[in-house]
Amino acid sequence: MYHIDVFSTAYSFQEEDVRGKTIVVIDVLRACSTIVTALQNGAKEIIAVEDMAAAGKIAQNLDQSRYLLCGERDGIKIDGYHLGNSPTEYKSSKIKGKTLILSSTNGTQTITKATQAHKLIIGSFLNLSAVVDELKQSTNEIILVCAGWKNRLSLEDTLCAGMIINRLTDGVLPKDARDGAKVAYVLSEKYKDNVEATLETSNHADRLRELGYEKDISYCSQIDITQTLPVLKEGTITDHHG
Ligand code: MLT
Repeated sequence: MYHIDVFSTAYSFQEEDVRGKTIVVIDVLRACSTIVTALQNGAKEIIAVEDMAAAGKIAQNLDQSRYLLCGERDGIKIDGYHLGNSPTEYKSSKIKGKTLILSSTNGTQTITKATQAHKLIIGSFLNLSAVVDELKQSTNEIILVCAGWKNRLSLEDTLCAGMIINRLTDGVLPKDARDGAKVAYVLSEKYKDNVEATLETSNHADRLRELGYEKDISYCSQIDITQTLPVLKEGTITDHHG
């Protein structure tokens, strides 16, 4: 039986809360979907950073031909960076073999705050089954950490967390599941067969449409298009199956 909880935003937990546990960070729109896509398309590794200063420091110590600076603020590509945060930008021809230094508004903040985890996995709809299969091996408490948006809950992240729980428990929520897990599970029962339509109604979908990233919403709604399983090890994210 799995002990499961869901945290709804990057701000809803302390580093201590994740220490020694198995953590899945979920930022469906879009940082985690971008990480999954980048590794699937041949990026060597991803270094998630909390801000641009940290990105600059890491870049200083790397050969310029080896890395790309990637990321967004409020959805918009950071000025002077090689790539933004749309998964559709992460084509093999641009990123193969490269170290990607990624800074995003909520997703990479959540990742950098959860590094005390025993294991940190990146989750999204794109790799849902790969995440669930990995969690089935876990003997630790499992916490699904949704990135949310600026300390607010995001519909798409909570739905994804609920669908992970739904599959992990074969649709039978353990009695000792925490309230966060119960809420996410109930959401998944309501919307699991209409993921794309549900994402289209989310607040972040509105923001992305305004910025011209409409296609990212349907791309990130796809379930199980890859077995890529990004896992954090010694500061870098690589594909566990790679
Ligand atoms: C984030 O980290 O807040 C998101 O990934 C924002 C985005 O859609 O680029």
